[in-house]
Amino acid sequence: MTEARLEAWLDETRSFAPSADFAKHANAQPSIYDEASKDPVAWWRTQADRLSWSTSPTKTLEWDLPFAKWFSDGTLNASYNCVDRHVEAGRGDKVAYHWVGDAEGETRTITYAQLQKFVAQAANALSELGVQSGDRVAVYMPMIPEAVITMLAIVRLGAMHSVVFGGFSADALSSRILDSDCQYVVTADGAFRRGAPSPLKPAVDEALQSCPGVKAVLVVRRTGGDVTWVEGRDHWWHDIVDRQADTHTCESFPAEHKMFIMYTSGTTAKPKGIFHTTGGYLTQVATTYNLVFDVKADSDILWTAADIGWITGHSYIVYGPLINGVTQVMYEGLPDSGGRDRWWKIIAQNKVTTLYTAPTTIRTLMKWGHELPGAHDLSSLRLLGSVGEPINPEAWMWYRQYVGGNRCPIVDTWWQTETGAIMVSPLPGITATKPGAAMRPLPGITVDVVDNEGKSVGNGEGGYLVISEPWPSMTRGIWGDPERFKETYWSRFPGKYFAGDGAKRDADGDLWLLGRIDDVMNISGHRLSTTEVEHALVGHPAVAEAAVVGASDETTGQAIVAFVTLKLSADEAEKDQSGVIEELRVHVSKVISPIAKPRQIILTPDLPKTRSGKIMRRLLRDVAEHRSLGDVTTLMDPTVVNMISGLMDEHQNDND
Ligand code: PRX
Repeated sequence: MTEARLEAWLDETRSFAPSADFAKHANAQPSIYDEASKDPVAWWRTQADRLSWSTSPTKTLEWDLPFAKWFSDGTLNASYNCVDRHVEAGRGDKVAYHWVGDAEGETRTITYAQLQKFVAQAANALSELGVQSGDRVAVYMPMIPEAVITMLAIVRLGAMHSVVFGGFSADALSSRILDSDCQYVVTADGAFRRGAPSPLKPAVDEALQSCPGVKAVLVVRRTGGDVTWVEGRDHWWHDIVDRQADTHTCESFPAEHKMFIMYTSGTTAKPKGIFHTTGGYLTQVATTYNLVFDVKADSDILWTAADIGWITGHSYIVYGPLINGVTQVMYEGLPDSGGRDRWWKIIAQNKVTTLYTAPTTIRTLMKWGHELPGAHDLSSLRLLGSVGEPINPEAWMWYRQYVGGNRCPIVDTWWQTETGAIMVSPLPGITATKPGAAMRPLPGITVDVVDNEGKSVGNGEGGYLVISEPWPSMTRGIWGDPERFKETYWSRFPGKYFAGDGAKRDADGDLWLLGRIDDVMNISGHRLSTTEVEHALVGHPAVAEAAVVGASDETTGQAIVAFVTLKLSADEAEKDQSGVIEELRVHVSKVISPIAKPRQIILTPDLPKTRSGKIMRRLLRDVAEHRSLGDVTTLMDPTVVNMISGLMDEHQNDND
């Protein structure tokens, strides 16, 4: 985010007073901020009572920086908290999910009582396959109810799930399976995307060629058709799960029992296995879901339009909503499966009250025109949410006007895989909102914006976002690498968690998130590291060197621009530029995922380097965004960057 862009945002700043309708019935009162700040740790202990504990915790926080324990002497079962307790309380007939398939008209309705039976059967099946407490199970699935059932069954047994987004490649899947030593995989034969089957099982088969430790693969039949089968290793869900008893008595585990791993990109080529534990994570997802979305469990129909392959799906499709006992819409397809007004139909048909999505999707829907939402009855909506990247004021205002009918508050929620749950967000009915601002830390959360030296900045100033006090759903570390955990998050500003985001306090002291300040890119709300993509590129036999930057993009927030030098002679490369470029783009999507496919690849004979040989990405970012170049005096050969700039202009639209 450039300073000029930010100023433009701030100039446009408008403030919307808290909605009076919300204020009348809000779950929280304005006094909540003061109550929590008096003693945040004690406040979190009261929030933990949202859960059903087998042993109520007497301890709250034990803090051995940077390692936290929350509620450590309490015991509970995550799956019981999400499902069984609602059935036991007589709410078994309440709908947990209105599942909407990719194809119009394909729906499934699952009540809490049904979910309890499905989870019990899946837990019994996983036990039969050998899954035990402490094991890791990889989940590589489409957005079907079995994905949620699988996650709940895994944690019910005290095992950990490591959900890998179904869009990731076989290579990405195998490296994640290996890193956390998963012995089991749950998958499907395929997924549906805009009516067409898209296979998943072949990627699992390919991945497992390099994962000899995997003992069993459980496969849901979703798309039909032939699949390759490894006898003894592969099991159909309908063969093994459906015949199980539909009751399962669960064990309780300590609050700090490890619950799941979620891989995310950092600044190196190797994704980090961020892991979370049970009691603190569940407490904060339950609390934040309730307060930020002002949940009315009896009347709301909430839709988090995300994939369970990301942390948003974990926290706000699975755990937060189920603990709160709400009814949700879960959607399998793409925004334009069956037509560009599909989302609006889903909202109207299901009378959705709360929609939570990412700015990149809002911008896409915006491009398709406000006539589409205008043609449907969206009057059931009462609250809108945004997550995953900074939301630009244009998109915010469009969302407010054309989706929210100027009556729904918008909660812009800042958080990360590492934070586990929402950290910065307005509270509807209590906090004012501004187009593009995440406003203020939630009750019980202490964040700050600091300068290079770690000193708090004043109002109207920018700096780095840090979290100053431990919070219940904080990651307990990087799988297998405690040193990297300390180094990545806790060394830049001693004693404080460094999020990697730039932020600014406006004149009123409200928070604006400005995007990553490290080598992490945010492509359509998906996190990718520049090094990860560079690593994939140099893995191609024709590539000598690669430098990757995230350049601003109107729809996807950022897009990948790669500068590549080839091992081929200039003549050879010249002959078939577009062929090489396309091959490299396909190569990256195969190694990582189609999400990582560069928007543009510029073939260049050289890259701009400092005299010590470091590639100057800052300059390449300027080039990619067609800005005038900053200081080039430290370059080994200043002419290189001008040459690249020329190439960029020449090929500006070649790769689109
Ligand atoms: O840069 C921030 C951006 O997304 C990053 C976290 O990505 P991930 O771990 O994949 O989690 C995304 C979903 C929680 C952050 O470091 N980000 C997330 N939400 C916002 C945001 N940037 C600005 N505003 C937000 N509301």
